Amino acid sequence: MAFDPQTPLCAVEDIPEDGSKGFALDERSTIFAVRKDGKVFIYHNSCPHAGLELNWVPDRFLDRDKEYILCTAHGAMFEIASGLCIGGPCAGASLRQLAHTIKDEQIYLQS
Ligand code: FES
Repeated sequence: MAFDPQTPLCAVEDIPEDGSKGFALDERSTIFAVRKDGKVFIYHNSCPHAGLELNWVPDRFLDRDKEYILCTAHGAMFEIASGLCIGGPCAGASLRQLAHTIKDEQIYLQS
């Protein structure tokens, strides 16, 4: 799926509350969205530690308690709202967040 600001990424309801969903942005990069407390957060799927994708299982980006984004490779934990790493080998670094808007319950990435 190529990035197109006119085409919705998905509907808000396509992301489970307290859950996450991954997307292919283009042939080489993936992103993921998290829905928490009624808000949506979208990040590039690239860990600041070693640049690996965070998930091994499709659409699974959160820890067991669904309180943090988890990098499966080496266990880095990130705040859902800010993307800040609060534990693990890249503590203090952050995931790269993507700006988006929501219109008619559809999510659009912003350029
Ligand atoms: S690549 Fe994410 S913690 Fe190492």
